Amino acid sequence: MIEAILLVGGQGTRLRPLTATTPKPMLPVAGQPITVHQIRRARAAGVGRVVLGTSYRADVFTRALGDGADLGIDVAYAHETTPLGTGGAIRNAAEELNCGPNDPVVVFNGDIINGLDIAALVDGHVSSGAAVTLHLTTVEDPRRYGLVPTDETGRVLTFLEKPETEAEIVTNQINAGCYVFRRSVIDRIALGRPVSVERETFPGLLRDGDLVRGVVDDSYWLDLGTPWDYVQGSVDLVTGRAPGAQIPSSAQIRGGQSLVLDGANVSPEATLSGGTTIDRGCVVAADAIVDGCVVMTNVHIGQGARLFRSAVGAGAKIEAGAVITEAVVGDGARIGRDAVIGAGARIGVGAVVPDGITVTANSD
Ligand code: GTP
Repeated sequence: MIEAILLVGGQGTRLRPLTATTPKPMLPVAGQPITVHQIRRARAAGVGRVVLGTSYRADVFTRALGDGADLGIDVAYAHETTPLGTGGAIRNAAEELNCGPNDPVVVFNGDIINGLDIAALVDGHVSSGAAVTLHLTTVEDPRRYGLVPTDETGRVLTFLEKPETEAEIVTNQINAGCYVFRRSVIDRIALGRPVSVERETFPGLLRDGDLVRGVVDDSYWLDLGTPWDYVQGSVDLVTGRAPGAQIPSSAQIRGGQSLVLDGANVSPEATLSGGTTIDRGCVVAADAIVDGCVVMTNVHIGQGARLFRSAVGAGAKIEAGAVITEAVVGDGARIGRDAVIGAGARIGVGAVVPDGITVTANSD
């Protein structure tokens, strides 16, 4: 039985206001929290116990997941009163592990969905004798990421900060946010102080001459850190572009392209498309169009409203005729009749946009 650590303690600032009440890993993708999606995939790969490294809004995780019995896996928690960063969180969570010093421990960032073969990553790690094995993915434009060049055997050569010039782009391989550690290597990380795994732990291992391996796996991969990538991730799971969606049994797939959860009331005259999810307790009135969106619980969408590639927080009210494009609407907000919410706009929790008003990304 393999143990895993799931890092879920970040503030999720880039996803505000959605993360004002719900921590990023508990935001729903295809009708279930990202964390639940990840735990199910880990379980299918042979992980039997997972320690959640919590900090921000830890109560939301414990309330929803408890001891993991509903997911058929043992869930434990390691809480940080002040966030310890990725490396510090891994070290802190290790206090809750049961495995021995030479056993593999899988570590996941809590905001990634991927098609990685987790079991193969673990097997390769164990047979290589590496201190750490990293999942790497390749990206077309590596400028937004730290780079991880490897030699032809997969040995990581160095960890590079985001490249600033063309000459610094020596590879298009990036850290994909999933690792396998030898347990004893985690125990070497300083306990009780902030540590970045990318900036401190991994470079330190290279300096000490430890074998750090990178395995390039180019199956589906998405970091859900921004609102647009978050919506895209949910859409990809609903449409099947991202593998491993566990659609709740009570949910209904409409036209193969959209998901309506049990207890939502969608008018037959409304149009859902593009991988949209309509969550429990929502009402979607006639002639509304919802394309490529995440609509969370108990949202009311009025007659003829049109929503495109947007995320709408729980309990929001979108009045008749409103148009929302590539925007984020916080929990409980009200978008007035015929209001227009433009690309990149973020409407705060409980905010009220008056009837007929246009909001753009820069207007506050
Ligand atoms: P932003 O504030 O938008 O950058 O998001 P974030 O706070 O989630 O940070 P980031 O995307 O870099 O974090 C990657 C993963 O590590 C996420 O799953 C976070 O929940 C997690 N994480 C980041 N910092 C900490 C920390 O200090 N403690 C714990 N336990 N997890 C963390």
